[in-house]
Amino acid sequence: MNVLLFGATGNIGSAVAGELVARGHRVTAATRRGGGLDGVNLAVRRADAADPVQVAEAAAGQDAIVSAIGPQHGIDDDEKVLVGGAEGLIAGARRAGVKRLVVVGGGGSLLVASGQRLLDTPDFPPAWRPGALSQAAALDLYRAADDLDWTYISPPFLIEAGERSGHFRLGGDEVLYDAQGASRITYPDFAIALVDELDRGNAIRRRITLAY
Ligand SMILES: NC(=O)c1ccc[n+]([C@@H]2O[C@H](COP(=O)([O-])OP(=O)(O)OC[C@H]3O[C@@H](n4cnc5c(N)ncnc54)[C@H](OP(=O)(O)O)[C@@H]3O)[C@@H](O)[C@H]2O)c1
Repeated sequence: MNVLLFGATGNIGSAVAGELVARGHRVTAATRRGGGLDGVNLAVRRADAADPVQVAEAAAGQDAIVSAIGPQHGIDDDEKVLVGGAEGLIAGARRAGVKRLVVVGGGGSLLVASGQRLLDTPDFPPAWRPGALSQAAALDLYRAADDLDWTYISPPFLIEAGERSGHFRLGGDEVLYDAQGASRITYPDFAIALVDELDRGNAIRRRITLAY
């Protein structure tokens, strides 16, 4: 597929870029700064996810848009990047006629056993709450975009550097915990799950999650 990737310079997006290229997809990275990714064979162009015109221009002729955008802590405004980004990506995809959108979202809107959102539970780190609320608002925007083939992938509580195992569980709207009570995944395993979803389309117009 021809894939337009937003966030390719980020922690998650760079793992996704590597996985896409390794599976033979032709990747164009769209970044605000126009910078490249060392050692990964992809095209780079400048585009801001929050600008529908720039998104549409970059998305012309692409088969899918993948987004792993996120705010820089302490620099960017969470809502501007996450909600503004979702609005720009949705409007830009429509304008370009690209239906498939696979988005890295937040885990705070996943549900715990009581039915509460993780972000509403007492132990949720207060510093993460504004970003988690913006991610939840972005999910609502995707859920309303029923003319697009979107998938929103929530990372588990913790996503970190580590091995590429290919072994993890997939879930829907509920947080997945392992036997030790941890909810975690590595960047490379997250990237496998995202590209699996892009390749297979098992979760069209749904939110999914994954964890060990
Ligand atoms: N447990 C969880 O819920 C959890 C955990 C970790 C991450 N996440 C979410 O996953 C996403 C990715 O996280 P990360 O750690 O990989 O982020 P990151 O390393 O901070 O990277 C963010 C990327 O977003 C790009 N970006 C930001 N605004 C943009 C815009 N308007 N247009 C185009 N590109 C834009 C940046 O590229 P340029 O600056 O080059 O443009 C950068 O490549 C974030 O939304 C984050 O909140 C969730």
